[in-house]
Amino acid sequence: MNRRAIVAANWKMNGGLALVSTMVSELNKVTLNDNVAVVVCPSFPYLAAFSQASSALNLSTSIQLGAQNLNENAQGAFTGEVSTAMLQEVGVSYVIVGHSERRSIYNESSELVAEKVAAALNAGLTPILCIGESESERANEQTEQVLAAQLQPVIERVGIEKFTDVVIAYEPVWAIGTGKTASPEMAQETHQFIREYIAKIDESIAVKVPLLYGGSVNAKNCEQLFAQADIDGGLIGGASLKAEEFNVICSAA
Ligand code: G3H
Repeated sequence: MNRRAIVAANWKMNGGLALVSTMVSELNKVTLNDNVAVVVCPSFPYLAAFSQASSALNLSTSIQLGAQNLNENAQGAFTGEVSTAMLQEVGVSYVIVGHSERRSIYNESSELVAEKVAAALNAGLTPILCIGESESERANEQTEQVLAAQLQPVIERVGIEKFTDVVIAYEPVWAIGTGKTASPEMAQETHQFIREYIAKIDESIAVKVPLLYGGSVNAKNCEQLFAQADIDGGLIGGASLKAEEFNVICSAA
């Protein structure tokens, strides 16, 4: 099946207006394969600037704006938080939810992640739901158990039928920012597990869900990773801060 492919850039707490400007001009030159979308996720203060710069250059509609987080509440006394409506007002259409850094540094549970996915879907934003195991969990052969425990609360909260509007990013925690990429075979095996997990509940949904790989993806390893049957693109951290390298990755999807 010809699933849509996505390459998402997670700038994390990096970059600024200069990177917005460089990235928009570089992305204006990129050649994308059919059915590929690129999603750029800068920090909150730069979302509006990215949106304005993209419109000014009339950037392809295949290049979309994403946020790195959201609050699950609609509005109110939540100092420092950002709602779905605020994100949409500045042109955001995707949002990363449950990144391992949010789970580990900010103690986000899978239940909270499920609430955030629900809030995103209710607002019409596409959540990029991140899941992944730690190094010790993989060493102890708990990878499948961990991924299932991260997925199940979201499936129960929003219903499997809503997964037609969800993107899943598998990011082994030990591969994030370490230069230790999962081998294409290992990544494929885990992506296949994720797809089969969903297929056991609803096969017709499982074939449609884009599954992205994240963890030290770069211009050299992206082609082999993206060639795997169940890998439909990537969630890119460090390499997404280098406009030319990011273009190479986008073109490989
Ligand atoms: O969200 C992106 C991932 O955490 C991957 O980061 O490409 O720097 O390893 P990385």
